[in-house]
Amino acid sequence: MSALAVDAAALASVAELAPAIRAAIASHFVRRARSELRVGIAFAAMAERLAARRAPEVVIDALARSADEEPRHASMCVQLATIYGGAPVALPSDLEAPLPSFGEDDPELEDALLVAGMCCVNETIATAWIGAGLEVATAPLAVAALRAHLADEIGHAQVGWAYLASDHVSDATRRALADRLHAADKALSALDR
Ligand SMILES: [Fe+2]
Ligand SMILES: [Fe+2]
Repeated sequence: MSALAVDAAALASVAELAPAIRAAIASHFVRRARSELRVGIAFAAMAERLAARRAPEVVIDALARSADEEPRHASMCVQLATIYGGAPVALPSDLEAPLPSFGEDDPELEDALLVAGMCCVNETIATAWIGAGLEVATAPLAVAALRAHLADEIGHAQVGWAYLASDHVSDATRRALADRLHAADKALSALDR
């Protein structure tokens, strides 16, 4: 995704907003830029880890591509923060994103949990979230940003499903993953009550 094209109509729709709204949107995009960068760092680490465990090359390549796409999302967020805030914003360079550990003894299950969480859950939810935004967005910049982001996020979710469906993951690991996800879902449902 390259930088967003900004025309006079897009700038006019930003100028119509009250200063407090513009400032709130700008700080939202600063936060988003940081989280996009963190996800990119995590994808790069996942690509390295799965390559060391000889995961399918198509999955490693897709993760490496995803790692390159997230910083581009961050740049787009910085561009939006700059436009809405009316002052230059810099990309943060001090971020870290250590991969989580799930406390499993089996490295294959650890990898499956990591990929399920990062790609299948997070990125699939992201596609639904962005899709819902697109249904209501009318500002030209918002529509352009959401469209550009959605295309990449669909790919980031697909890489997770592709990994879990690959021969690299055994049926026993898939069953164990399903058990863990079911338990997590039960625990989250209990919190809602
Ligand atoms: Fe992203
Ligand atoms: Fe993503």
